[in-house]
Amino acid sequence: MSNAPSLELDSATLVEEYDRLGIRQFHHGLQLLDVLGLREGERVLDVGCGTGRLTESAAQRVRAHGEVLGLDPLPLRVQRALERAQGRFAARVGRAETLETVPDAHYDVVYLNSVIHWIPDQAQALREAWRVLKPGARIGFTTMPEEAPHDLHVVLQALFTREPEWRSAGVGAPNKLTRERSAALLRDAGFEVTHNEIRAFGDTFEHVDDVLAFSQSSSFGNFLSSLTPEDIALVRARLVKALEPHRSARGYELTRRMIFATAHKPLAH
Ligand SMILES: C[S@@+](CC[C@H](N)C(=O)[O-])C[C@H]1O[C@@H](n2cnc3c(N)ncnc32)[C@H](O)[C@@H]1O
Repeated sequence: MSNAPSLELDSATLVEEYDRLGIRQFHHGLQLLDVLGLREGERVLDVGCGTGRLTESAAQRVRAHGEVLGLDPLPLRVQRALERAQGRFAARVGRAETLETVPDAHYDVVYLNSVIHWIPDQAQALREAWRVLKPGARIGFTTMPEEAPHDLHVVLQALFTREPEWRSAGVGAPNKLTRERSAALLRDAGFEVTHNEIRAFGDTFEHVDDVLAFSQSSSFGNFLSSLTPEDIALVRARLVKALEPHRSARGYELTRRMIFATAHKPLAH
């Protein structure tokens, strides 16, 4: 995968799978909303809102006097978000790097939950977030730490190192950050960092096919997209063996770590 993931591989099936398996992103997303401390009446922008599950929670927190907009480049995910919204929040197609229809200094909070590692020009995305935030307003993101990868990615990398032709298959996201680079990115955009930590989450998957579907739907089809169906079947068979040490009576138990980074735009700048 190049550093710009394809936005052309999404499908109705991947949207359904994400709605089922992306509950994991939802759970850490709720923690991000807690850290950001959303208040009644606030205006919130969810960048990379996906199918809108977390956007719905943001709308519940700011209640009727607040305003929530979700943006995502994938039309099928935006469609699902709109079905979910039932008028309680807005959603439309858009990208983090060009929030052109969003007015300056409008929002109290901008957040990106499990999104920034997909964005090729992260500095531009943060400049846009800065533009649309009011002075004193907050920004936050969660992202996969490069220095503490997901158990699944460690297992897959080990499998892929042994197969040179699989190396470009795309395991995880192409623009991962470290905790240090997350803070630097925010500071370079002019923000004052308020929170920057790594939290760990235990994921349980009943079946290896759920592990693969989770990765495929979370990556909107980019995961293993360069492999043939025969190669993918081989990856699956080898993954079953490689994941054996992670198996318990409940299923495959995998640890996922996430950076939680928040900051605010200074009042005077
Ligand atoms: C793992 S999903 C996370 C979705 C949602 N934030 C959640 O917590 O469930 C990653 C999302 O990032 C979006 N995305 C990818 N590139 C993006 C970009 N350049 N700007 C905004 N969103 C992007 C994808 O379309 C996808 O919906």
